[in-house]
Amino acid sequence: MTLFSDPSVGLDDPMMQRAYALAEQGRGTTSPNPLVGCVLVSEGRIVAEGFHARAGGPHAEAVALAVAGPRASGSHAYVTLEPCAHSGRTPPCVDALLAAGVAEVTIGMPDPTNEAGGGARVLESAGVRIHWADDPAPFEVQNEAWLTRVRQGRPFVRVKVAVTLDGRLALAARRRSAITGDGGRAITMRLRREATAVAVGAATVDVDDPRLTAREPDGSDSARTPRRFVLSRTSVPPLRSCMFADGADCTFVTSTVVPARALEELRAGGVRVLVYPYTASLRGTLAAIAEDGVNDILVEAGPSMLSALWDGGLIDELVVVTAGGMGGNAAPPLFLGQADAEGGTLVPRFVPVEAGIVQGDAVTVWRPQRERAPGKGM
Ligand SMILES: NC(=O)c1ccc[n+]([C@@H]2O[C@H](COP(=O)([O-])OP(=O)(O)OC[C@H]3O[C@@H](n4cnc5c(N)ncnc54)[C@H](OP(=O)(O)O)[C@@H]3O)[C@@H](O)[C@H]2O)c1
Repeated sequence: MTLFSDPSVGLDDPMMQRAYALAEQGRGTTSPNPLVGCVLVSEGRIVAEGFHARAGGPHAEAVALAVAGPRASGSHAYVTLEPCAHSGRTPPCVDALLAAGVAEVTIGMPDPTNEAGGGARVLESAGVRIHWADDPAPFEVQNEAWLTRVRQGRPFVRVKVAVTLDGRLALAARRRSAITGDGGRAITMRLRREATAVAVGAATVDVDDPRLTAREPDGSDSARTPRRFVLSRTSVPPLRSCMFADGADCTFVTSTVVPARALEELRAGGVRVLVYPYTASLRGTLAAIAEDGVNDILVEAGPSMLSALWDGGLIDELVVVTAGGMGGNAAPPLFLGQADAEGGTLVPRFVPVEAGIVQGDAVTVWRPQRERAPGKGM
């Protein structure tokens, strides 16, 4: 997901651009599955479209084929991801494409989870003409969260922090403070709306007691709210905390050192609980969340959480929202770890990839050094 650029603008083929846009409609709801869009074209005209909306629901190809009916015969399918050749919760898409008589398939990117040979080879050996997109990069960017979970066994981690001009995260330690304005709120709500899951540390629940829901500018709840997680090692916030008490979906992720009785009380109060081995630390936290079917998570981090994620090399994207005021010397710092420096020189570990001004607040997006900007074929 990008905030100020569109990775699909470089796509030459308008049908693939359309398939990409369709896939986007599933953002936030397809986990643990990928985003997929499909366009069926016959005699130069689009006869059907589809996208994968949620896990367990029909795949993009099945949706489009159902809309097309007999018009699918002899058509050209444009799909953002290689069609699956295996049965999961739904039957293999290659079987459906063959049964419908699709003659040609253009594919955005290969599916790394497809068994040897994959869907493209099955289709090709059945006589279907296969074309691959010239550049798979935009499709890989679109599905980077899913690819992260599949390849690394953890969700794509996007961290959002609001900071003052002098890099402070709050105005005073352990006191709720508002340090960005309307722009910060708007960008936070957009990030939440498009995330599969959002998380805060247990300390933030104690201090801020957030709801962590997605809301519209008028304060009403958005149509879709992401799954909510509270991350802890040893502490257990009170059951009366907003996130536990409001009756909406909430999962508490903690380590094996927390007494079973405390966890039972949470479960009895309607809170889902995941437990990871204490020694596994944040990697264990994230692995448990990935196993729970989450491709991407937005962490709204305080200093300890940000520092632990940074030191663990577990941040895939850092979104920094800055308002034009100083926090002052009494305000707690953003980062608690060691400087990224060699001798007297700062060694940047992250590079800026996007920036914008949103309703008076500055938003900068940072990625680990090894990567290139999302809009530039990352
Ligand atoms: N400006 C912003 O964007 C922003 C966002 C969030 C919070 N805040 C502010 O930040 C302050 C709280 O910051 P914080 O850093 O103390 O809280 P935090 O972000 O909530 O992170 C610390 C919490 O994370 C848990 N955690 C789980 N695994 C961890 C690990 N491996 N390492 C470290 N912590 C781990 C800790 O659990 P245990 O307690 O069990 O160790 C602790 O409760 C508050 O003042 C809040 O208002 C600001």
